[in-house]
This record gives sequence, structure tokens and C-alpha cells, in this order.
Amino acid sequence: MADTQLIKEKLDIVQTIQEYVPLKKAGIYYKAPCPFHREKTPSFMVNAEKQIWKCFGCGKGGDIFSFIQEMEGLDFSEALKLLADRAGVKIDNYRSEIDKSQKNRILEINQKAANFFHHILTEMDGASAAREYLEKRGLKKETIERWQVGFIPDQWDLLTKYFLKKGIGVDDLIAAGLVIKKDAARAGQGFYDRFRGRIMFPIWDVHGNVVGFTGRVLVETENSGGKYVNTPQTLVYDKSRVIYGLDKAKTEIKAQDQVVLVEGQMDVVACHQAGMKNVVASSGTALTLEQIKLLKRYSNNIAMAFDGDSAGIAAAKRGINIALGEGLNVKAIRIPEGKGKDADECLQKNPEVWFGAVKNSSDVLHWFFEMAFLNKNTSDPKEKQKIANELLPIIGLIPFAVERDYWLKELAGRLGTDTSVLRDDLKRFDKNQKIIPSDKNNENSKKEVNLDRLDMLLKRLLMIFIHSPQYISSLWGSLKENCWLGSVYEHLYEFIKNHYNTSQGNTAEVWKNIFDESEFKDGFEDLKMIAQIQVQNIEEITIKDELIELIVQIKDEWAKKRRKQIGQELALVSSEKNPDKQIMEKLLIELQSI
Ligand code: UTP
Ligand code: MN
Repeated sequence: MADTQLIKEKLDIVQTIQEYVPLKKAGIYYKAPCPFHREKTPSFMVNAEKQIWKCFGCGKGGDIFSFIQEMEGLDFSEALKLLADRAGVKIDNYRSEIDKSQKNRILEINQKAANFFHHILTEMDGASAAREYLEKRGLKKETIERWQVGFIPDQWDLLTKYFLKKGIGVDDLIAAGLVIKKDAARAGQGFYDRFRGRIMFPIWDVHGNVVGFTGRVLVETENSGGKYVNTPQTLVYDKSRVIYGLDKAKTEIKAQDQVVLVEGQMDVVACHQAGMKNVVASSGTALTLEQIKLLKRYSNNIAMAFDGDSAGIAAAKRGINIALGEGLNVKAIRIPEGKGKDADECLQKNPEVWFGAVKNSSDVLHWFFEMAFLNKNTSDPKEKQKIANELLPIIGLIPFAVERDYWLKELAGRLGTDTSVLRDDLKRFDKNQKIIPSDKNNENSKKEVNLDRLDMLLKRLLMIFIHSPQYISSLWGSLKENCWLGSVYEHLYEFIKNHYNTSQGNTAEVWKNIFDESEFKDGFEDLKMIAQIQVQNIEEITIKDELIELIVQIKDEWAKKRRKQIGQELALVSSEKNPDKQIMEKLLIELQSI
């Protein structure tokens, strides 16, 4: 880190950026039209004191290094070199360089280990039991070749010795997760292999690098450890980011616009061998957000197979929820009773049944419905509510209004209740989903783009209040609650409201620290920072006028939006088979009152 600090001290951020962009001084900041997106009014700011830059239009920002990275299209170490040259700073042992070369060394070691395991399986006498086992499980030679399946006999340090003899350092072997250091206090000195007596499956990243392994025990004994042993977290392996088989399945996934997700390595390999090549696995864990994002690059449609037992369902549910929330179309693959517990077993017994199960997979919501209604008495209102409690949070995850409405109607129909009742109830479960959008990372700045005009106006209002809290007590109350509800700031609003209900004191003072220990802290800090830059250009005497004007605009915008919503709701209700007259009337009355 010392090098970057030194460079920052030697190179003035304003001067450096000035070489690319004409900066104008504005208060304690420098401003320019953003070089990274098209704009007329400048929202690109440089803070010379903190040595940072930020564009409030496109959300990009960072330090001098990230600026050069963006501007010159370089990666970090390249930008570092360029700036080090300019600053006349010598860098020879920069940390990320070390990490980078260790990363490369680990990847090389992994590749060598994969070759070693594969060679043992295919060539060595000591692996005949493993070969027979795989043959019995139906793996063909070509399949073993294609997936570089391997084997390591049950010995303590076969792999360690192999590598040490090749002159590879034990530290790198440990860093690769292949070798474990003995606990000195208990077992004396030395090292041993993590994988022993196992069928070895290399795990590749999307680019085809071997990043880790999973080893299935060949003969299960009392002390063989788990059925599967996996590479631990390393510089190159993070199990929440890897999808097994994606490097080989991605082309087919794109071509079919469909992912098939199974549970284990054997399932993936068996499916590909049987000619179904859009199949991947998440390695025995529920899908993570990172994995779902990775899959989304190739398709928005995912069909999942999972163990039918309740643990399997509970484990899968988290992943399904994330996928639904990310807007994926999630289908459930159900292997018929008695036809095998997983893809691999089903393929062994009746391949056509597996193919049929994938083809007939249906929306995962159907499956959630079935689960929720199972063993419940739908004439008991309490039980009905239970069902709703189970299903509404799931329905609420769906980010598409029409689709969400479809399932609400389905649920209303089956419960014999009204959709509007459920629609109201749904709001209860919508908590936590919307907090202040934060500028901090891309994730949230994407949400930023989705702010509608009303949200933007509310944001501006919040910023001005944050900047000038002296106006809160006189003006906060002039905006009706309605305007906040349904906006992205709804929960923030409720938080503030609750706070006022439970605390006393000077309004302006209270505002300063109520967010500190709350979920809104980061978002609030971001708003504060933007406020400092954007609001400081308004003359103090015009702030109150702007606030009053903003409040008028917000009311107008809210009315416009609500009118549109009512129009849509009316259209929906009247499209129902037996339109609910009462609701229509209510909506019409509301429409007139706006
Ligand atoms: P299963 O126990 O269902 O095994 O675990 P499997 O894939 O059917 O294996 P076979 O058919 O008996 O050989 C499913 C997946 O969960 C992960 C593995 O990736 C496995 O393929 N897993 C399972 C682990 O990582 N660790 C374990 O201890 C068990
Ligand atoms: Mn299996």
C-alpha cells in the first residue's frame, strides 16, 4: 500500500485529471462534464482534499488510479505502473503483484494436480478399483477424458511428495488448498494431502482454469471424512462464485436459452454424457447471488432439480428466492417417485424419464403452492392465512407486476378471497427490500438508475433536509404520507416517522444521528456526501424557496403517478371474470379525489 500512497502524494489528482478533462473550480471541488458518459451539465466532481473523484450522473468514481484505469482502459497494475512512472516512484514489490503471481502459481499447481490425478486414474495399477467403480457408474472413457476425472489413492502425502520433488514450495501447495499443515502441537511436524482415497473432479471457472477440486470418497469408511471433500477458499477458489460445468455448458445454455441446474458433479457429468449439455451444478450449496449473476449472463431461464426431502427443499429455497428476486424464470424439475433421487440415478434407470422431467418442468411457484396447500384445511381462516403468509413473501419477490398479479389471482382464487385483500397484505412482506439506494457500489447504483421521477424529487428533498435540517420542523409535515408510500424511500420514511413518535428533542439535532445504528446508515452517508456537493451551490436564502417548490412538484408528480396506477388497477379489476364492483367504485372515488 505504501507505493500507492506515495504516488498519491507525488501526483496531484487535479493536475492529473486536468490532462484529460478541463476542470473548473467550484467551491472546494472541481467540476467538469463527465468524460465517461455524455452530459450537458457537469456532474463530474473532483475533491482535491480527499483525492477522490465522482460522477453523480453515471455513478463512477474513485481515486487517481481508478480514474486512469477508466480513462486509459487499463487494469489496476497497469495503471499503477503508468502513474508510478509519472511520479518517479519505483515499484518492484507491490502486494497485488505478489497476489497476482501467487494466483498464477496456484492455477498452475491446480492444473498439474489435475493432470496427476487423471494420470493415476487412467494409467496406474493402484487405480483399478476406482476405474471399475466409475465403469459401474456408467462413465465412458471419453467422458472421463473430457471432464479430466482423476483419482488419488489413500495415502498421506502422495501429492505433496510429488510436488515437492518437482521443486514446488509447500507454501504454494497450502495456498492452493491441496496440502494441509499438521497441527504442530498435536501431531508433530509435517504436511499431508487434503484429498486421499478419492475420485477427483477438477472444478473450472468460466474461462477454463482449474480453480479447485471436489473429491468423492471411493470406499466409505469410518475415518474417510465426508463423502465429498472440496477445496477450501483460496485466492482462486470461492465456492459461492463457481458454477461447476459452466465452462463446458455455456455455449449450449446460450443456444437453448435455458440452464439446467442439478445438485452434484456426477449429475452434471452424467447429463452431458447423455447428450444434455446445458447442465451445471452449484456444488452442493444453495445458489448464491454471485452464482445467479454469473448464470444470468447466459440465460434468464433456469430449471432446477433438487432432492425431494425437506432438507433439500429448505436448502434450495434460499437460492430460488434470490433467483426470483433477480427476475429469473425459475422452474422446478421433478423426478417421478421411484425413478431415482437425482439426475444421475434417473439417467441410469430410465434416461427418457429424466429428459421428460426436464421438458415438463414447471414454474417453481406451482411447486411452492403445492407445498403450502399440502395438509391444510382451506375452510379454516387461520389455515388460509398461514398459506398466504407462506406464499405472499415469495410472490412479492417477483419484480414484474403482471407476473406478480397472475400469482396473486391464483392464490386469491384458491383461497376464495379477494385479490385486493392479498395485494394489501403483500405490502407487509415488502419490508427490507427497499432501503435508501446507495451510491457505494455498482449493485446499488444500478438501482439508482431505476429511480422514477417521484423518487428523484424525494431524493432531492431528503438531500436538502440533510444539508439544511433547520427547515425540517416547518416543512417536513407539509408533505402527505402518501407521497412517500410506494416510493423507494418508504421504509426510510417510516423509520423517521417512528423515530419522531418515540423521541423528543430538537428536530434538526435528531436528524443528524438517528441513522447511525440503522440499516439506512450507508445510504444516508451517501446522500450526505452528494448533498454537500449539490446543495452547496444553492444560495442559502433560496433554499427555503426550493424546498417549497419541490414539495409542490412532489405532490403533482405523486398525483400523476397515482392516477396512472388507478387506471391500471381499474383495467385489471374489470378484466377479471366477475369484476368486484365495490373495489371499482372505491378506485373511482379515489380518482376523483386526487
Ligand atoms: P449428494 O450427497 O447428493 O451426492 O451430494 P451425489 O452427487 O448424489 O453423489 P453420488 O451420486 O453419491 O456419487 C450432492 C453434491 O453436494 C456436494 C457435492 O458437490 C455433491 O456432488 N457435497 C455433498 C459436498 O460438497 N459435500 C458433502 O459432504 C456432500
Ligand atoms: Mn448421486
